[in-house]
Amino acid sequence: MENKNIMIMDHPLIKHKISLLRDKNTGTGEFRSLVEEIAMLMAYESLRNLPLEDTEIETPIEKCTVPMVSGKKLAIVPILRAGLGMVSGILNLVPTAKVGHIGLCRNEETHLPQQYYCKLPSNLDQREVILLDPMLATGGSAAAAVDLIKAQGCSNIKFMCIIAAPEGLEVLSKAHPDIDIYCGSLDRCLNEDAYICPGLGDAGDRIFGTK
Ligand code: PRP
Ligand code: URA
Repeated sequence: MENKNIMIMDHPLIKHKISLLRDKNTGTGEFRSLVEEIAMLMAYESLRNLPLEDTEIETPIEKCTVPMVSGKKLAIVPILRAGLGMVSGILNLVPTAKVGHIGLCRNEETHLPQQYYCKLPSNLDQREVILLDPMLATGGSAAAAVDLIKAQGCSNIKFMCIIAAPEGLEVLSKAHPDIDIYCGSLDRCLNEDAYICPGLGDAGDRIFGTK
């Protein structure tokens, strides 16, 4: 897939941790920690263009002007539920970021997303938004979440997922060619239930220990 807005992570630590996530014998506690660590590593890789602002401080030696991340301009938005697992990893790096929430649940038969919640930070038109969901399967949930964010006037959007299917990547990048998409791994395909193969199963159930 040739698209300069799509970045597939190649860091060995991210690859290693995703392999551990995929293992069906990885339990809830470890799964949750891995999702948080992967989100933090992916944020480190994808936030190279974060705006800096000059700030005056005083070292033990003298006053000086130093670059600081203007974190108040950043908002992170997890898609509930599974995206919640990625939030703390990113807040570890950017603790001042605002956090919005979008609740979407995929219908088991149609595989279409159904919205049940949306609460976004104010002044979204002035912010950079990082939209989080570990799984990009058909792409329906991510595309609908981007629609909701754009409806608030935001035009600076990154979508971050841990595992993507080619089908979902195509749907999302066609629906929203202006956003940057960061994937931990690009998997083979979807199965007849629209689950990613080989994938990791149901991300929400594995993070929260449900099913
Ligand atoms: C999963 C996942 C994504 C969505 C991806 O959520 O976390 O949000 O499916 O599928 P799509 O690309 O085909 O839309 P799910 O709807 O199972 O809800 P949950 O996070 O509450 O388990
Ligand atoms: N949602 C998941 O949690 N996993 C998939 O493989 C597809 C959608």
